[in-house]
Amino acid sequence: MPIQSNLNDRWFEFLFEANPQPMTIYDIKTYQFLAVNQAACIQYGYTQEEFLNLTVLEVRHPDDIPEFIKSIKTTCLDVGSGFQSSGIWRHLKKDDSTIYIEISRHLVEFNNRKCICTLINDITDRLLTEKTLQYSEASLAEAQHIAHIGNWEWDIFKNTFQCSKEAARILSLKYHDKTNTMNIDSFISTAYPEDKPLLNEMIQKSLRDFKPWSLEHRILCQNSLIYVKTKGRITFDKNNCPARMFGTIQNITEQKKIEEELRNSRKEFRELSAFLQSALEENRTNIARELHDELGQSLTALDLGLSWISTKLKPPQAELKEKLENLRNIVNFTIEAIQRIASNLRPPALDDLGPAAAIEGLLEEFHSRTGIEFDLKLSQEEFYLEDKVITNIFRILQEALTNITRHASATKVYVRLNQVNKEIILQVQDNGNGFDMAQHKKKPSLGLLGIRERVRMLNGKLIISSAINAGTLIETKIPIGMKT
Ligand SMILES: Nc1ncnc2c1ncn2[C@@H]1O[C@H](COP(=O)(O)OP(=O)(O)OP(=O)(O)O)[C@@H](O)[C@H]1O
Ligand SMILES: [Mg+2]
Repeated sequence: MPIQSNLNDRWFEFLFEANPQPMTIYDIKTYQFLAVNQAACIQYGYTQEEFLNLTVLEVRHPDDIPEFIKSIKTTCLDVGSGFQSSGIWRHLKKDDSTIYIEISRHLVEFNNRKCICTLINDITDRLLTEKTLQYSEASLAEAQHIAHIGNWEWDIFKNTFQCSKEAARILSLKYHDKTNTMNIDSFISTAYPEDKPLLNEMIQKSLRDFKPWSLEHRILCQNSLIYVKTKGRITFDKNNCPARMFGTIQNITEQKKIEEELRNSRKEFRELSAFLQSALEENRTNIARELHDELGQSLTALDLGLSWISTKLKPPQAELKEKLENLRNIVNFTIEAIQRIASNLRPPALDDLGPAAAIEGLLEEFHSRTGIEFDLKLSQEEFYLEDKVITNIFRILQEALTNITRHASATKVYVRLNQVNKEIILQVQDNGNGFDMAQHKKKPSLGLLGIRERVRMLNGKLIISSAINAGTLIETKIPIGMKT
């Protein structure tokens, strides 16, 4: 039944006027407002007088008017239907701003006219919040999709497992927005069979020690393996009991592929570098030997021949004799140059006298060339090492000395060669101006890189320590007596 109302009715007046929610009464035919309460005036920004001069159409958004008229004709003429929700509408305030409202209305008789009484609920803020929430949820889903990273959550007590769309995509699961059919076991079972115990152990351990965890494991996804990085962390309820485990899951297959390619190409680079080093060393040895043996012997024979000819010349041929002596000098100078070049290519001491003598020879030559003092200490008189180890130690020392000559401005260098257990340790330390290790990494240079590669090739360890004005120490530890 429609409510018979009159503003003189005190009870209705109280309900209408004192209602904190905006209420209006308007004529169903003319749409003229016949009564508005205080809350409505505040809501719309009109005085009561201004309001009563308006029709309901004037507070509607123009686009909504046809729909509104239709709704009045179809629904509200149904007398006795009581309160009805007429949905969400756009209304205009006095300042022309738009508000979103939810309206409940019912048919009343007011001052003997058929009217509609409305109860208005402003939901602008709620809609805005919902929209913002929807937007940030959509942005989060998009960001997760781009980054191939999803999130999941396990309610420990209820044993329910929920995950984001992207996590479901990574795990090849059907995405359940609200409903939940998964538990922690079904999550663990998504892991590749061999990795399931690992994932399970991580989760169990975290339940024991409450520490965050992270695991790289595999998932079998449509017959192909994908690599994921899963992380988890326990959160506690207000009684400090573990309540949930939050986590992320990231598809790192691409990254793994790149890492694998990088590892392979590094391995290939090392193999190539080792091959080139030994080929270079072999070539140097061969060239040194041939220079020394072949060319050296031929030149010696030439010198002997010239000397013999010289003895056969008579005094009147003094000019010829002098020419011959000049030629002999040139030959001898060439022999010396060849010996020097051969020795630089491959010091004969390395093969003939052993590493101790070769190192001593190298340091003496370094001292006479640069004037830098040296202090050499060897743990034993002789070292019996594989040729590869001897050669590389010698080359490392050579590069270290070259760097000292070029960069250190040192006055003294300390060289130690110690054989300790199954290791041969070379230390080269100078008292020069040192260098900033972080800065040096930014410059392209090959000397220290070469040292590093030689040490790596021999499965050894390298320590370079240096600081401005504090000298430089290069220490290499190379395992001996094992296959390298
Ligand atoms: N004993 C040292 N004292 C001071 N600075 C040094 C010493 N050894 C190396 N450095 C610094 O480290 C840098 C890198 O050395 P590295 O041997 O790799 O390259 P480089 O000597 O500059 O060039 P190259 O590639 O010809 O060897 C040098 O440029 C120098 O600044
Ligand atoms: Mg160098």
